[in-house]
Amino acid sequence: MTVPKKLFIKTYGCQMNVYDSERMAEALGGQGYVETTSQDDADMILLNTCHIREKAAEKVYSELGRLRGLKEANPNLKIGVAGCVAQAEGAEIMRRQPLVDLVVGPQSYHRLPELEAKTRLGETALDTDFPEEDKFEKLAARPKAKRGPAAFLTVQEGCDKFCAFCVVPYTRGSEVSRPVERILTEARDLVERGVREITLLGQNVNAYHGAGSDGADWSLARLIWALNDVDGLERIRFTTSHPNDMSDDLIEAHVSCPKLMPYLHLPVQSGSDRILKRMNRSHTAEQYLRLIERLRTARPDMHLSGDFIVGFPEETEQDFQDTLALVEAVQYGSAFSFKYSTRPGTPAAERAQVSEAEKADRLLRLQTLLTHQQRALQNAMVGRDVGVLFERPGRQPGQMVGKSDYMHAVHVQGDSVAPGDLRRVRIVSSSTNSLAGELLD
Ligand code: 5AD
Ligand code: SF4
Repeated sequence: MTVPKKLFIKTYGCQMNVYDSERMAEALGGQGYVETTSQDDADMILLNTCHIREKAAEKVYSELGRLRGLKEANPNLKIGVAGCVAQAEGAEIMRRQPLVDLVVGPQSYHRLPELEAKTRLGETALDTDFPEEDKFEKLAARPKAKRGPAAFLTVQEGCDKFCAFCVVPYTRGSEVSRPVERILTEARDLVERGVREITLLGQNVNAYHGAGSDGADWSLARLIWALNDVDGLERIRFTTSHPNDMSDDLIEAHVSCPKLMPYLHLPVQSGSDRILKRMNRSHTAEQYLRLIERLRTARPDMHLSGDFIVGFPEETEQDFQDTLALVEAVQYGSAFSFKYSTRPGTPAAERAQVSEAEKADRLLRLQTLLTHQQRALQNAMVGRDVGVLFERPGRQPGQMVGKSDYMHAVHVQGDSVAPGDLRRVRIVSSSTNSLAGELLD
């Protein structure tokens, strides 16, 4: 019997990387690898990287530096870089850090087995192509092993929007949607393995238009309705959406599709029309607010989440005030906010930059407001009854932790609850990052 080789994957960045890491582990499973949770005894270490902000990319090089000792102790250890830094930097990574054996971009993961074989021969392997073939079709069939109740499923990749600050259209390429039937097959397979909640992923997920088995072009809403019919699947979510692709059928699905959850991540980035224009977002603050109004009319309990960038080139205090005003108007249940980070090769990199001190000050003020909103909305959950999908035991004995319909972390005391159970819970208290509840049924 051959001894399995050990694979350690470290994942940075977005949920799509989490999904990709799973698929890479599966692809290398065919080469005799099993995953390990410790890098110390690994035969291969893969860093699945993020290039969205400068700090994320720099982290990769520091991490690679830290792996030197392991490579010296075990010369057979293979080190690979995958993800968006791999795509953006390519062979430059091996030049800057010669201990790297393999560099593979996000569109080439189905070629990992060949690339790995090359490294075993003592060669380096590099693949940052945008190949014609569909990597998802070529990737190994997913194993039948049991898994946790919540899973990601990538349905769309790439972006054609070209926001002036963003590297995604360059690292992930143009928009591609997977065919409907493959997604449904993968969803049924996940459900057989214990999954109860699926989050459909795409850089621009609501721009999804995939080929249906009927030959028609299916929208995301139509795909969601088809998933609603999958027995055993209890919840559907999707992320990340662009305001301009929030179509009527998708808003309607939030009203009448029973398994679609009342939570929407809808980044706006700025509340200033001047900055939105400079960002190439192709919508105004007013259009975004009107969209939110329509969503809330359709689904009054909808929890909204957003992404914000402060200190975009040429952003003035007045522009920033417009962002604060938009946040006040929306009332977000959660949000992610970032200082603008210059990304080489993107249009905004060439423009007049806001000082670091100004960026830091604006970020602090924005985050103070967002945290305040988030806490207020979370506290308002106390006394309400919600669905909770339980995922794992909590820190206290007898405690179980899950996610509410609105994505809050909720914990209860109860020996009768198991991971994968969807139960009604009455919320009794709210703390910094979670809610406590009592089982109702
Ligand atoms: N600087 C700061 N934040 C960025 N994002 C994307 N590019 C940059 C950048 N250059 C943020 C946006 C996006 C989220 C995923 O990351 O808010 O929605
Ligand atoms: Fe980047 Fe999103 Fe803009 Fe596309 S829509 S360029 S992924 S921020």
